[in-house]
Amino acid sequence: RIETLPLSLAINGEARELQVEPWTTLLDLLRDKLDLTGTKKGCDHGQCGACTVLVDGKRINSCLKLAVTLDGAEITTIEGLGQPGELHPLQAAFIEHDAFQCGYCTPGQICSAQGLINEGHAKDRQDVREQMSGNLCRCGAYTNIADAVLEVMEKQS
Ligand code: FES
Ligand code: FES
Repeated sequence: RIETLPLSLAINGEARELQVEPWTTLLDLLRDKLDLTGTKKGCDHGQCGACTVLVDGKRINSCLKLAVTLDGAEITTIEGLGQPGELHPLQAAFIEHDAFQCGYCTPGQICSAQGLINEGHAKDRQDVREQMSGNLCRCGAYTNIADAVLEVMEKQS
């Protein structure tokens, strides 16, 4: 018999009462149980950043976080940041600056960029490049990603 544990989360502003297996990662919970497939699985080992989401406003690799450790947390995924017709400024800037090719890394890049802006430590392009270095892009869209993030960071600061 598989034991599950109760878990209360606010996901994209909606309160959810869940039952999860103790080994379920936040990434698998989002994608497989809640159908929030905007968050991507790349490496499943904390190395690519494709799974980045915001937990209480801080960016984390959701593949490395066991869901049961997050009781009471507020989770924001790419679906919660913006939607078609109501884009988040970072989503709009990524489109404007052509900051993706295949798009696989993009939800993680955007959540990570919002986390970086929330942290408030980045001042220039070099800082953005360095502080976004946990988010890999196999298509090599780094220059345009930095352009998009810088534009929104400068507007919001
Ligand atoms: Fe989480 Fe790669 S899937 S860091
Ligand atoms: Fe393809 Fe980044 S746009 S991996």
